[in-house]
Amino acid sequence: MPTKQFLTLATASFTAAVLLSGCGKEAPKALTYQADIKPILDQHCVECHKEGGSGTEKSGLLMDTYAATMRGTRFGPVVIPGQSINSTLYRLISNKADPSLRMPHDKAPLPDETVSKIKDWIDQGAKEQ
Ligand code: HEC
Repeated sequence: MPTKQFLTLATASFTAAVLLSGCGKEAPKALTYQADIKPILDQHCVECHKEGGSGTEKSGLLMDTYAATMRGTRFGPVVIPGQSINSTLYRLISNKADPSLRMPHDKAPLPDETVSKIKDWIDQGAKEQ
């Protein structure tokens, strides 16, 4: 019966629309280096990625300021604004790299919500403030 078929279809697409909009959450809070990311790096990364730290000695990556973090290693940037997936910094904390390279080095991985905060920050453009 065509009417019934139409109704079923209409219901299905309505449900899909509700599900899709539900997934999008509300507009995510804009994340900034100063407010959201610096405290994470200070707590988990800076002890090795500071002047004289093992991470800085080996890779050149300093993470004590925004400018230094964005400058990256001696080979280039580790944060590509808008592209978490191409950002070494994100890849190394999210299990997308060889375990021997995972950051923080020789320590427990960061909690999932911290990792996704860093991912969202990069995807939102890696803003300073
Ligand atoms: C216990 C010390 C230590 C801690 C803590 C640490 N790192 Fe590292 N990091 C290193 C060392 C050592 C290297 C040099 C690469 C190597 O030889 O493994 C490095 C290299 C890196 C690199 C460059 C990789 C490359 O060569 O392209 C990135 C990016 C990085 N760390 C990110 C982080 C982040 C983000 C954190 C905090 C979540 C962190 N690190 C915490 C020691 C550390």
